[in-house]
Amino acid sequence: MAANAGTDPTRPPVADSVVNVREYVRRARQAGRKISIVPTMGALHAGHLSLIEAARRDNAFTIVTIYVNPTQFAPGEDLDAYPRTFDADRAACRDAGVDLIFAPTDAVMYPAGDQTRVHAGPLADTLCGRHRPGHFDGVCTVVAKLFGIVQPDVAVFGQKDAQQALIIRRMTRDLFLPIEIVVCPIVREPDGLALSSRNAYLSPPERKQALCLSRALNAGRTSLLAGEARDTIVARMHDVVAAELGENSAKEATDYLVAVDAETLEPATDASPAVLLAGAVRIGRTRLIDNLLVDRSASGV
Ligand code: PAF
Repeated sequence: MAANAGTDPTRPPVADSVVNVREYVRRARQAGRKISIVPTMGALHAGHLSLIEAARRDNAFTIVTIYVNPTQFAPGEDLDAYPRTFDADRAACRDAGVDLIFAPTDAVMYPAGDQTRVHAGPLADTLCGRHRPGHFDGVCTVVAKLFGIVQPDVAVFGQKDAQQALIIRRMTRDLFLPIEIVVCPIVREPDGLALSSRNAYLSPPERKQALCLSRALNAGRTSLLAGEARDTIVARMHDVVAAELGENSAKEATDYLVAVDAETLEPATDASPAVLLAGAVRIGRTRLIDNLLVDRSASGV
């Protein structure tokens, strides 16, 4: 890295075309470097920085993509409101030692005449996919395009979007893409709130209410580890959200609170080696998701 890269506002370089990003990749490969990619929609926070840190392992040439992908938002969702903080994102990438930002426009990603879409399989029929129809087709389509453009060796995603991570792993395997998928743990605020770009939407009172989601998941884990039945686990999670939002509002605000098999996303059974406790709850107008992975073999239940 250049000696003054720490403050140089022209770093890291930003590529906005396919030809441009491929030229950087070609040169990095020529220099013997592996290529890693961290796909993001920007509004970077400490969770993203942990993904970047993982991506930089083994001196890989690390590319952060910043693109708010329209095909994964349904009409009426927050596509227009989604925080766009490019200058701060670039500074964060600079501090984190990112080698290149790829920030394409819609015309680059979906040029005139573009028509092919990747359809996620049954893993997308549940949890967020059930409440956001077409969302994961949009995610798979844009991630497949980014993989095709960059052709990375490694791609890093966050466990915060557990269903997304599973679906992308599945897509990579099903399409025989020679890319290692790395999934990094959730990063939380000290009080437990999972970091998310959407936390920026929360007013101070909503920020306090939002804690009910991580608290609910923790109550679910306690119940699971105590050997309680799945229905009880789920009921205990609902109780925590209802105590915060009120019974009726909690019902309306909760898209799902579930205990599912961490690999199949089917309802967890005694035979599930790992259980994903997952929830999506609307706090005010902000839809938050969170999850806890409980490895049964490690916890002895
Ligand atoms: O997780 C995200 O930020 C997005 O879904 C992704 C993977 C960058 C695709 O747009």
